[in-house]
Amino acid sequence: MPTGPFPAIEPVPVSSRILGIESSCDETAASVVEDGRTILSSTVASQVDLHARYGGVFPEVASRQHVLAIYPVIEQALVQAHLSLHDVDAIAVTRGPGLPGSLVIGMNAAKGLALSSMQPGSGLPLVGINHLEAHLYSTWLGQAGQELPPEPQFPLVALIVSGGHTELVLMSGHLRYQRLGATLDDAAGEAFDKVARLIGLGYPGGPAIEKACEGGDPQAFNFPRAWLENTWNFSFSGLKTAVLREVRKMEGSKYPLPTANLAASFQAAVVEVLVVKTMKAAQIHKAQSILVVGGVSANRALREAVNLRSGCPVHIPPLSLCTDNAAMIAAAGHFRYIAGQRDPLNMDVLPNWPLTEV
Ligand code: KG4
Ligand code: ZN
Repeated sequence: MPTGPFPAIEPVPVSSRILGIESSCDETAASVVEDGRTILSSTVASQVDLHARYGGVFPEVASRQHVLAIYPVIEQALVQAHLSLHDVDAIAVTRGPGLPGSLVIGMNAAKGLALSSMQPGSGLPLVGINHLEAHLYSTWLGQAGQELPPEPQFPLVALIVSGGHTELVLMSGHLRYQRLGATLDDAAGEAFDKVARLIGLGYPGGPAIEKACEGGDPQAFNFPRAWLENTWNFSFSGLKTAVLREVRKMEGSKYPLPTANLAASFQAAVVEVLVVKTMKAAQIHKAQSILVVGGVSANRALREAVNLRSGCPVHIPPLSLCTDNAAMIAAAGHFRYIAGQRDPLNMDVLPNWPLTEV
């Protein structure tokens, strides 16, 4: 034990139980996570059926649905974890990026709970979380009572592929990010959703295309790959237009649209560009691990291709943690909480918050 005249420092917590809250898009979710890794509970109320009739997320409908779902979802997460609010150390809530009207519902719920838990002189700390950072931390998570997955090692290269984002990120340590590249137009998930609509499949497009690929020939159509040489950027709008062109050519034909071949050829083009660029970035930056996260990481062809081609350990979350959830918010919340982050009650949402500005 040091005995010298050291200045008094605030003790830094190393362990935590965090309540996570997520409402950035069309999932209302809450979760309790211990030490950033062990999921004690995770509740997700999906609005996907509500939005399916519009062929995409309808922001006004989304925020109204969050209002209805948010407190029951939080209550369920606490009940499932056999805990009350007094047993958690902090509330982590998604601050952005996302739909403004959706983000504020989770944010205000978190503030309400922080206030309601206040004893004189103490209250539950609030920690605002970047949604993309949370997707990265989904790879640290495991279920209570089961063996935790191996921890990713730094430096690592992460591919974030969701409905709103496609980014290649270099992570040199906890909470330290450098953006290598990003999509210049559509996000990968957005491309899946748009192409699904073009070829007459339902919403969300990712799972619909994946299913439609069964029995399809990935080489039936030679769709373009935008390599954007000497950059780590992506572009998917040309690919989407190429699919549209093929569909237009076949309009009026007496034969049905070759949906399986179109879906399989489109998926192959997306997966090839994502995988080749990620592998190259990992090699050049001497990555010790590769992460693939976000809704599109649920795609089986992408998961298999990354696992097959990677020269270092690959971390892809289980399917339940690929799409939006609150366990990942709580996991990122832990690493920010133990680093000392505490946000004020007047914290505002940041609908366009880049990962590199956290
Ligand atoms: O991460 P996420 O749940 O929400 C955002 O933060 O955007 O990602 C949703 C996106 C949607 O575009 C959906 O079509 C896509 O992820 N997605 C998939 C699959 N499952 C979901 N894309 C390809 N294959 C899948 N199996
Ligand atoms: Zn997401």
